[in-house]
This record gives sequence, C-alpha cells and structure tokens, in this order.
Amino acid sequence: MTETHTPAPKPSADVRDSAFLRACRRETVPHTPVWFMRQAGRSLPEYRKVREGIPMLESCMIPDLITEITLQPVRRHKVDAAIYFSDIVVPLKAIGVDLDIKPGVGPVVANPIRTKADLAQLRDLTPEDVPYVTEAVRQLTAELGGTPLIGFAGAPFTLASYLVEGGPSKNHEFTKAMMYGEPTLWAELLDRLAEITAQFLRVQIEAGASAIQLFDSWAGALPLQDYRASVMPASAKVLDAVAGYGVPRIHFGVGTGELLGAMGEVGADVVGVDWRVPLDEAVRRIGPGKAVQGNLDPALLFTPLETLRAKADEVLTAGRAAEGHIFNLGHGVMPNTDPERLTALVEYVHEASAR
Ligand code: CP3
Repeated sequence: MTETHTPAPKPSADVRDSAFLRACRRETVPHTPVWFMRQAGRSLPEYRKVREGIPMLESCMIPDLITEITLQPVRRHKVDAAIYFSDIVVPLKAIGVDLDIKPGVGPVVANPIRTKADLAQLRDLTPEDVPYVTEAVRQLTAELGGTPLIGFAGAPFTLASYLVEGGPSKNHEFTKAMMYGEPTLWAELLDRLAEITAQFLRVQIEAGASAIQLFDSWAGALPLQDYRASVMPASAKVLDAVAGYGVPRIHFGVGTGELLGAMGEVGADVVGVDWRVPLDEAVRRIGPGKAVQGNLDPALLFTPLETLRAKADEVLTAGRAAEGHIFNLGHGVMPNTDPERLTALVEYVHEASAR
C-alpha cells in the first residue's frame, strides 16, 4: 500500500460547521442531523427514471449520473448529508473481479474465492482504476455547497462474504468454513481486501469527501470473540489507513448489538447502530469518546405518521445519552418506502430536536 498520499482538500467553512460534521465531532448542534442509508436509490421515482436502461454497475461509473443520483435525496428530503452513489462491490469490479449486481438479488461473483490460487483475482487498486470516482466526488463537492458528502466502502468481512459465497448469503457458511478452517488463507484474503478498501476510501477523501462510512453489514453473523480474532485486524487496518486525514470515520453493521464496543475500538469516530439496541444502551456498550448513528427501524416508515413521529421521538430521546447523535435508520431504506414519509421524517427530526 502506498503510504504517501496527498492531503484531503480543506472543506469550506459551511461544510466544516454543518450539523452533521459537528455531531460526528461530538460538538453542540443546532438540531440533530439526519440522513438515510440507501437514501439514493429505488424508493425515488426520479432515481428509477435516470437509471432506466442502465445496469447498476455501469451507472456507478458515469460521473454525471453519480452526481445526479447523489443529489436527488438531498434536494427532495433536505437531509443533512449526501452519500456518494456507488456500491460496495465497485472497487472489486474496478480491479477486474468478474461480478455483477443482479436486480432484486444483489452482487453475484462469477468465480467465488475458495482457494489460495483464487486470491490472484485481487490485485491492488490504484486511483487510475476509478477515475470516475475522483471526477464525481469533485463535481459533487462543488454542487453540494454546505452539505457534507459521505464516502463509503464495504468492510473486509462483508466483501469477503460476497466473494467467498459467490453472492448474497443468509448463513455465510463458505465464509465461515474458510475463517474457521483455513485461518491463514482467511487472514490473507481479509488483508488484501483491507488494502483495496483503504485505497478506495483514500480516493474519495482525497477528491473531497468530508466523512467516510465503512459498512460491515454482515459482521453481526459472528460472536464477539471470533469477530475480535478474525475480523478486527483487517477493519482496523482500513480505518487506521485513513485516520490521518482527520475526516470522521463511521462504522456500521446489522445485528451487531454484541459487537458495538469492538466496532468502536477498531478505530471509528461514530458507531452505527441498528434498531435492535436502544441508543442509550448502545452508548453504554460503546463507551465514551464516540458519537452514534441510527437507529429507527426502516419498517416504521410504513406506520401512520403519528406512530412514526412517536418512534422518532424515542430514538431522539435515547440519543441524548450520546456525546453526538446522527439520526438515521437502523438499516437501508426499503425500495417500496413512500419517499414522502422520508421527507416528513427529516422535517420532524429537525423540528423536534431544534435547540
Ligand atoms: O444511498 C446510499 O446509501 C448510497 C448507495 C449505496 C448502494 N449500495 C446502492 C445500491 C450504498 C451505500 C450501498 C452499500 C451496499 N451494497 C451494502 C452495505 C449497506 C447495506 O445495505 O447493508 C451492501 C451489503 C451492498 C450489496 C448490495 N448491492 C445489495 C444487497 C443490493 C440490493 C440488491 C437488490 O436489488 O435487492 C445491491 C444493489 C444496490 N446498491 C442498489 C442500489 C441503489 C439497487 C440497484 C438497483 O437500483 O437495481
């Protein structure tokens, strides 16, 4: 991995002073900032319109389209942060891994990684592999004005799960077979993925992203002890690699109630929490010195407005136990969510948390 890198561009005063970045830094905020995982995507008719006839992975390589899709939820919902439109498998595609994103299924890998020889599919990523990322992030930071842009990547464990299984998996059985049965091969796979992921995040930060989120969506499949032994070193390597830029690092997974402390320790400034653990309890598990992000159940967007507001209040109240709180869902927006509900929720969170 190249250790020489250019410093991140200095964000504008407006971005630096945004409610989102202030909450990440555990400073006082005018209102609780809010954005949604998967805010850019299929719940929006304007998204479906611009994506018409363009396969998912192709759309992640067209700077003007990336910029438009990233901006759509910011315009519509007035969220406090944009998330860069891409997918966790884009860096793998960029280094030549034969994979596709199948509609309604997710990432599918042609030749799953199961042996040492299969590791040859994973070479290092260079900025030249992803010129569209640099271009789109630059366009976006110019267009977004005072709204911060979050860059992101998949964490080594979650990427490994797609690569080893060959596609989405409920039980992660081949992944666990390698992790427990071939620890040396597993460590080598995760280490390679850590290097690729770190490089992909560097490209986004050096082009102007003002925070990053590392998605370890499927880490909750592991018990704490095994997460610590077999996953943490690679995630720590990724988060350490970008620590020097000074941009906040958010670390999120699903079903990670038992792992929250470790996910903070690994080098996150903000720990993402799904809906299963109330935020005050999450804060107790994570310990001092971190902000939290979350954690409304995305299914609650289907309830009557009064119920949604009451549940949002519960999240805001529990979130006051944190040194910094960014309101979000406990996982991504579901495709059949009514976008007007999301807009109403943003408005409500801003109103109810104004101070
Ligand atoms: O708005 C945003 O959050 C930014 C865009 C984003 C996408 N994927 C776009 C996308 C982000 C942050 C991701 C991350 C991602 N991708 C994760 C981690 C977050 C999580 O949800 O746990 C994971 C596990 C993936 C892998 C992946 N890609 C899945 C499971 C799917 C859904 C498959 C399906 O169709 O049900 C994808 C495809 C995908 N990624 C879509 C979008 C908008 C849908 C593609 C389409 O519109 O056809």
